[in-house]
Amino acid sequence: MYPQVRLRRLRRNPALRRMFDMALPGPEKFVWPVFVVEGEGQRQTIDAMPGQYRLSVDMLLKELEPVAKMDIGGILIFGLVDESQKDDCGTAAHDDKGAVQEAVRAVRNAYPDLVVFTDVCLCAYTTHGHCGPLNDSGDVNNDASNEMLAKVAVSHAAAGADCVAPSAMMDGQVLAIREALTREGLDQTLLMSYSTKFASAMYGPFREAEQSAPQKGDRQGYQASYRDLRQAIRESELDEEEGADILMVKPSLFYMDIISLLRDQTHLPMAAYNVSGEYSMLIASADRGWGDLRGMVRESTAGLVRAGTDILLSYWANRYDEFFKD
Ligand code: PBG
Ligand code: ZN
Repeated sequence: MYPQVRLRRLRRNPALRRMFDMALPGPEKFVWPVFVVEGEGQRQTIDAMPGQYRLSVDMLLKELEPVAKMDIGGILIFGLVDESQKDDCGTAAHDDKGAVQEAVRAVRNAYPDLVVFTDVCLCAYTTHGHCGPLNDSGDVNNDASNEMLAKVAVSHAAAGADCVAPSAMMDGQVLAIREALTREGLDQTLLMSYSTKFASAMYGPFREAEQSAPQKGDRQGYQASYRDLRQAIRESELDEEEGADILMVKPSLFYMDIISLLRDQTHLPMAAYNVSGEYSMLIASADRGWGDLRGMVRESTAGLVRAGTDILLSYWANRYDEFFKD
């Protein structure tokens, strides 16, 4: 007790603080989400996500040069197609010549040390913008979606993806994908499930980037409710049973309780997706002069690590050195 105990002794100067502080995550823990489009020479700005771009494959390779030099762990590839290529089921998502599949091959080849993750979903490929085909009542057809998602995952894995990451929140999607991969002899492909993914108001900037907002309705019929903690935990439990190699909580900053609970009950690696709205809100605050960006990025990321996150899906990754190097 005070006056004998004085905690300030332990943080009296930078040398002591550095000794007792946990380390911030190294670059190898970061996975950078990227958006790829068809064509060449494309580097489209995204209004709601300053510093992020829609890139054609050639430009992605260029953009990755400094990022790979920082020794980032990997990238997570999202694809987009023109309106004209969308249909009710999202067929273009499993086109072997699609932008994602081409990007996987190109990045594998140019940057063999980057771990290549792909997002497996249909919302950027369906005319209605939902994460799977609809049934007659306008609801997403769960089992038909699983069949499509399995095809998409196989096409990504066949192109050379290290890890496929289904984000549609369909029941049984992990099992469907794992079985399809096994059937195709792709037994080395990792599967990272967006296992506890909430219906969140923090995806707005991403939906602008991906042009993937639902035309009608919302995603509450498939994404988890942030007001039902037990069900949110069951979502991850079931994905572990279905054969996921890595679990994920998404969004991240408002859900550190979930990360921490799952960390205590699973032995799988845990990812957290620091989503677009979480990215853009810090930038918006800094732009108004209300906060120091580097400070906010470091503090929020440290929180995720403390909560139990192993790998970080983070739009800060392409500026790793600036934010995280001392
Ligand atoms: C779609 C998907 C979304 C994100 C990743 N995959 C948006 C959504 O569910 O509407 C969000 C990523 C972000 O906000 O950064 N399956
Ligand atoms: Zn989706």
